[in-house]
Formats: sequence, C-alpha cells, structure tokens
Amino acid sequence: MTPGPQTVRARVFNAPGEALGDEELRLADVRDDLVRVRLRASGVCGSDLHVADGDWIAQGPLVLGHEGAGIVEEVGPGVGDVRPGDRVVLSWFAPCRRCRNCAAGLAWLCQNTRALENTLPDGTTGFISVDGSPVPAFLGLGTFAEATVVPESAAVKVPDGVPFPVAALIGCAVTTGVGAVVNTAGVRPGDSAVVVGCGGVGQAILLGLGLVGADPVVAVDLSEERLALARELGATHALCGDDPDLVDDVRTITGDGADHAFEAIGKAATIGVLPSLVGRGGQAVIVGMPAEGVTVPLDTFDLDDGGKRVLGCNYGSSVPSVDFPKISRLYLSGRLPLDRLVGRVTTLDAVNGALDDLRRAAGLRTVIEQGEDSWAR
Ligand SMILES: NC(=O)c1ccc[n+]([C@@H]2O[C@H](COP(=O)([O-])OP(=O)(O)OC[C@H]3O[C@@H](n4cnc5c(N)ncnc54)[C@H](O)[C@@H]3O)[C@@H](O)[C@H]2O)c1
Ligand SMILES: [Zn+2]
Ligand SMILES: [Zn+2]
Repeated sequence: MTPGPQTVRARVFNAPGEALGDEELRLADVRDDLVRVRLRASGVCGSDLHVADGDWIAQGPLVLGHEGAGIVEEVGPGVGDVRPGDRVVLSWFAPCRRCRNCAAGLAWLCQNTRALENTLPDGTTGFISVDGSPVPAFLGLGTFAEATVVPESAAVKVPDGVPFPVAALIGCAVTTGVGAVVNTAGVRPGDSAVVVGCGGVGQAILLGLGLVGADPVVAVDLSEERLALARELGATHALCGDDPDLVDDVRTITGDGADHAFEAIGKAATIGVLPSLVGRGGQAVIVGMPAEGVTVPLDTFDLDDGGKRVLGCNYGSSVPSVDFPKISRLYLSGRLPLDRLVGRVTTLDAVNGALDDLRRAAGLRTVIEQGEDSWAR
C-alpha cells in the first residue's frame, strides 16, 4: 500500500492486557454525511483503560481513543454543519438526530446510535486494514490515529480559540463531568457535594461544581496527589477513600449528608457507599462505569426513608451540538478554566505510557498531541 493522505498510523487494541499495537490503516472514503478529521489532540480516559485491561469485552483489532479534537479535512456531499478547516470536538455518542429521544432533545439517550458497536451509523467502519478488512474504532471514533472518519453528528464545530488539548477533553471528561453537575444533578449555588474519585472525570466535576457555586465540596480519593489537585480545583475538603470514618466525616462537613454525591471511578464498593454520603432528599449520581456485569447492593429502606435518588449519568446528559460550544464559550470567557485539567502532554508513540498514567492515578489528564503547533501556550 502506498502511504498517502488517506493512509494513517493508528494505535490499536488487540487483546486485553497487551500493549496497543501500531498499525498503518486506510481511511474510508468520505461519502454521504461522513467527515474526515485530522486529529490534533486526544485525552486518555478511564474508558480507554476499561477496554485495554479487559473490563469491557471488545474484539480486537480496535482503534482506541474517544476523547479527541482536530480539524475537518474533507466532508461528504450530505454534510451541512461543518466545512474543511473547521476546528471540531468529536462526540463519542453520535446521535441519529431522528429518533424519539433525539427529537426530544435527549441526544445522549439516542435509540439508534451505532457508536456503542464501534462502527459508523451504517455499520461500516472508518478504518480499513491493508488486506481490506474493516477495523472498528472505539465508540465509532478511534482518536488514537492521525485522522479518522466520523458521521457529521459526531463532529461539532468549536471556536478556533480553544486549544486542541482543551478541545479534546471537552470530547469526554469535561462534558461528562460538567454535565453531571449542571444537567444530570442540577446542582444549585450553595448546595453541598461530594466527589468520589478525582481523576480526569472527577476533576471536571470539581470545575463544574465551582462554576455553579456549590459549597462545601468534599473530594475523596486514595491518592494524596489527586487530593491535593482536587483542592487546587476547588474542593473545600479532602478525605481519603479508605478512611473508615468516611461517612461520618462527610456528615460532619455537610451537616446531614451532602445534597449531591458523584462517583467517578466505576467500582462496586464506591458506588455502593454513595447513597450513604447524601442526606435526606439528596442525590447519588453514578458517573463512573464499572466492568461489565457488576451489580451493587443498595440499602433500599434508607433510599425510601430518606427520599434519596440514585441517578445514572451518561455523557453528562449532554447534547454535543449544544453543550460543546457552550462549554467552549465558558472556557473562553474565563468562567471554566479548563487548561487546569490538562496534564502531561505526550505523543501517539507513547500511548502505552499514557495508559500507565491512568493505572498509576497520578497527576492531571494525560493528553496525546497529534500534528504540530497544536498547543497554544
Ligand atoms: N458516565 C460517562 O458518560 C462516563 C464518561 C467518561 C468516563 N466515565 C467513567 O468514569 C470513570 C473515571 O474515569 P477517569 O478517566 O476519571 O479515570 P481516572 O483513572 O483518571 O480516575 C479514577 C480515580 O479514582 C480514584 N480511585 C480509585 N479507587 C478509589 C477508591 N476506592 N476510593 C477513592 N478513589 C478511588 C483513583 O485514584 C483515580 O484518581 C471510569 O469508569 C470511566 O469509564 C464515564
Ligand atoms: Zn471517556
Ligand atoms: Zn437518535
């Protein structure tokens, strides 16, 4: 195969526990409502790790990465919303824009999306191997590649002033975390909140809580470094996740228990404890995604008696075409300091080390830079 603009390097999941492979793949032709995007930055998210480590069953080969941003290179004849040269954030939940939930403005609950099958809307793939076989891309994106082909509904234009690493994080952690606060939970100024798990998603929840003026805000993590970062991102208190007095300490800080508790890890034990961290009438919001098949026992008398709610949160209950530009504006106006979430910046070559950063639970979000001149320092 002759390398050309339609041939890209991609980092590919083959089997659980194996390092990601390095493949040269062909991109599908840009037809109908498809868009080719030259990727400029990708965050490395806990959901990528779920696949790499086998928590979520996936068939290899699969181009990994779902938190990305880039520049539109070519559009199909049916595309109206974006043009070549536009800066776009990719949505890992390409909505169909036609089903009942999409029509009702609930795009994150789209009934027809094929993104969870790791394909394009028509069931084909944006990547093709040298021998001509289809290569699926995680959540239909596959951002750990030089370029990708996605449906128009997955490529949302944002202002040029948003640096690519920030734009990449808007593609998952930020929209999920800020949306969990604003859309899913509807936190109001002065409400109390607990954030259990202060990695990339939990850090974005903390910024969301700062945006709406929650207080007090209790951060919980096992890592001292993550707790120190959480304080910098607005937590008023920090508690260690293995503290046997965690529930009592949260009650002491918040009065009767928090108005809102967010779990951003995806572990049965921390999801199970969540309702006991909220007070009467409080909400337990599950943002972290466990391994497939995990179930959690709940004290249902406590839920009834305390009038507590347990809410699942998918993509921060967000509509990408509305929320990506809105979050970008909040960043550009200085109200949402998203640069503070960008951690170590590395390259596609070092993607396996970036996955190790997640395993170590250290620092801020590691971001892969793709192409040149992408970080407006
Ligand atoms: N709901 C959604 O739409 C959505 C979107 C993105 C990510 N996620 C999920 O969110 C979760 C977190 O993703 P991330 O990228 O922030 O991961 P991450 O690895 O960066 O963060 C996880 C954090 O949890 C902490 N932690 C682990 N065990 C703990 C314990 N017992 N007590 C307290 N803290 C503990 C770790 O130290 C780490 O700081 C993952 O499950 C991911 O799949 C969900
Ligand atoms: Zn993610
Ligand atoms: Zn739909």
